[in-house]
Amino acid sequence: MNLIRNAALLAVIALPSFAHAQLEGDKIATADKHPIPAIQDTETAAQRDARLAWWREARFGMFIHWGLYSIPAGVWDGKPVPGIAEWIMNRASIPVADYKALAPQFNPTGFSAHDIVALAKATGMKYIVITAKHHDGFAMFDSKADPFNIVAATPFHRDPLKELAEECRKQGIKLGFYYSQDQDWTAPGGAALKTGDHQPPTYHWDKAQDGDFATYLHTKAIPQLKELLTNYGEFPAVIWYDTPTKDMTPALAAEIVALTNQHPNLIWNNRLGGGYKGDTQTPEQYIPANGYPGEDWESCMTINDTWGYNSADTNFKSTETLLRNLIDIASKGGNYLLNIGPDSHGVVPAPEVERLRAIGKWIDVNGEAIYGTGPTLFGAEAGAFSATEKDKNGKPKFIPAWEWRSTTTADKVYVEIFHWPAGSFHLDKMPRKVTGAYLLADPARKQLAWKQAGGSVDVTLPTKSLDPIATVLVLTTAKP
Ligand code: GLC
Repeated sequence: MNLIRNAALLAVIALPSFAHAQLEGDKIATADKHPIPAIQDTETAAQRDARLAWWREARFGMFIHWGLYSIPAGVWDGKPVPGIAEWIMNRASIPVADYKALAPQFNPTGFSAHDIVALAKATGMKYIVITAKHHDGFAMFDSKADPFNIVAATPFHRDPLKELAEECRKQGIKLGFYYSQDQDWTAPGGAALKTGDHQPPTYHWDKAQDGDFATYLHTKAIPQLKELLTNYGEFPAVIWYDTPTKDMTPALAAEIVALTNQHPNLIWNNRLGGGYKGDTQTPEQYIPANGYPGEDWESCMTINDTWGYNSADTNFKSTETLLRNLIDIASKGGNYLLNIGPDSHGVVPAPEVERLRAIGKWIDVNGEAIYGTGPTLFGAEAGAFSATEKDKNGKPKFIPAWEWRSTTTADKVYVEIFHWPAGSFHLDKMPRKVTGAYLLADPARKQLAWKQAGGSVDVTLPTKSLDPIATVLVLTTAKP
């Protein structure tokens, strides 16, 4: 796998644009500068491969943004609040007391852990990452460390993380927890990123938010991370940190690392801060032109334009776009973490369910072209950098092409064809000897005629594609 990964990626090296302004303070320090070495600093390459094997094999996960913010659903005081709905408290400068008053109204009796896990499974997703605590500071789990949580502060009195853990165990899906370790807009001392006219140094908008960050970390965040790491059996498999700030010093981050080091199978992302790089790069709402050569990465994306539920946001991407994103990301060696935003009843919006089920249908037939595959042996099919246009960072803009993509295994090259060519499909620079060709969706796997002259291969195709979104041509190859 790593061999394929490195060989393929050497083909098309270009620096990805890294536009995520929220990663303040993530100056990656080398291991020797870490106050406490993290698992990434001490493990061997073989140990790392073993620890990340399931995650690399999975390729596809479900992100769940759900919390008190699903009650206002993008509207406050009768006025729509622009932007991602889970940020409503910050964008509308809602006082702490007013926001906390949402908790007694939160009673999502429509929530079914069974149905949500079954939906992820039917979609072909192998893991789920749910917001255990988002920036608003409300814990979606039974927390003894802080009473502002779904069990103690709402009429629901149930722990959805516990129910999801049980269902994930039953249905063979991995469960991970998103935890906003720095930002907490309801705990004194919690950090806040700037929106609107909020002023430095804290960007707070309510005196009740003021306090000491380290005290917040020691009295809330770290105790809650301990609860999350110990109260859910073999889960979490992943901890998904977010928006590191300058408050997270290397010394404070090291205290969290000391905690996670006790869970040697845990995978955590690159958003802890304090100079720790974590395991996974996390491009958000975009797909890097050529992925992250030689690194583990995961594109997290929304189905519409918001993570948390926003009743007014109906800008749902098409199934075609979502599925081609998955294929594009897999062809670049990455994972796709696709978000759902349940409403205040705990129900997943129908347009999201519909699209996920449609993706699941494609995966039922073509999943082997995604799971456990390596990236393309080619690369130019993904598109090219414009000679004239610049992106928002002033760098040459990447113009993706959407004819086809490719994923690989040791003895197969999968070509996911988006636009069906007339007659035959042509490949250049094929570095392997082709031994057979068929369509994955053809139950009979009827052999197709092909010709290979050195690096160029031509495969005779039937007149019609077998799937309008992506038809997978399988080329069996002699092992490299
Ligand atoms: C950003 C947003 C946050 C969201 C996260 C998902 O950091 O601030 O609300 O949860 O992206 O990737």
